[in-house]
Amino acid sequence: MDIENLLVIGSGAMGSQIGLVGALAGYDTTIRDVSTTALDKARDALSEQLERNIEKNRTTREDADAAWQRLRFSADLEAVAPEADLVIEAATENLDTKRMIFADLGRLTRSEAILATNSSSIGASQVAAATGRPEKVCNMHFFNPALVMKCVEVVRHAATSQDTIDTVLEVARVMGKSPVLINREIPGFVANRLMGAIRDEALRLRADGIASFEDIDTAAKSALGHPMGPFELMDLVGLDVSYQIRQSTFEETGDPADLPHPDLAAMYERGDYGRKTGKGWYDYETGA
Ligand code: 3HC
Repeated sequence: MDIENLLVIGSGAMGSQIGLVGALAGYDTTIRDVSTTALDKARDALSEQLERNIEKNRTTREDADAAWQRLRFSADLEAVAPEADLVIEAATENLDTKRMIFADLGRLTRSEAILATNSSSIGASQVAAATGRPEKVCNMHFFNPALVMKCVEVVRHAATSQDTIDTVLEVARVMGKSPVLINREIPGFVANRLMGAIRDEALRLRADGIASFEDIDTAAKSALGHPMGPFELMDLVGLDVSYQIRQSTFEETGDPADLPHPDLAAMYERGDYGRKTGKGWYDYETGA
């Protein structure tokens, strides 16, 4: 199926950057959020990103202007949904919220439109029934920061059609990404399972007093060549997101070993989410 129009649901860190990736790749793209304040924030952040791309010679002024022309921001789902060929949902990691969004999308989009979720912890099978066309539903999982990270995990669930998978893989390639096909839903898919294993070990090492979180980060970077240590990465991804991913995995498996680490839960409850709140493991206001 030919994709021309993208609709991204959610204008947070992931949704906004996915939208710009789409517009830069030549798709007419709308970013939709219920909050106009969030949309304004996304518009400002993306405009800055584009300026940086121009300064760094990653994009010409002409291409950036063309991408900006292709990008729209809207709070009106009823108005924008009927135009979409592919929807990428990047709202909060909450199953009830996502089910409501997918029910709306099933009702408001054309029957041939593909409906994808960026979720890494909620498999598309959990929202597919709400759309009335499960064969058109899959996960299309980007990584933070989506403008930079090349991986996109494309995940089929039992009812996803091959045509849906082929189309989504192709869109990811057009976006300049390296798609990875995941053949079966499993919590965390592949990349987050790898990241989660390292994060859990890092949290244990710190809680046991083996090393400080700063030194654990240093070891990950200087011994293993990781671009960021596990604590820096939690701050980038958001401790709220890391917590919710663990919580929803636990809700699916019922295995207490999947519960968020108590230190992660404590920070989540305090509202220390990382870069987005100015404080996580590191302090972004004082730079400590
Ligand atoms: N948004 C957009 N672009 C960004 C960015 C951001 N938040 N952060 C960095 N960049 C870009 C910038 O364009 C920057 O180039 P510039 O300085 O020329 O403008 C370029 O990346 C390099 O950035 P820096 O020089 O500041 O720093 P680094 O070289 O360390 O790169 C990084 C930053 C790309 C974030 C790198 O540290 C990295 O790859 N970190 C690991 C990220 C990672 O693992 N992400 C996956 C998280 S898991 C996930 O998202 C899944 C979800 O389900 C939880």
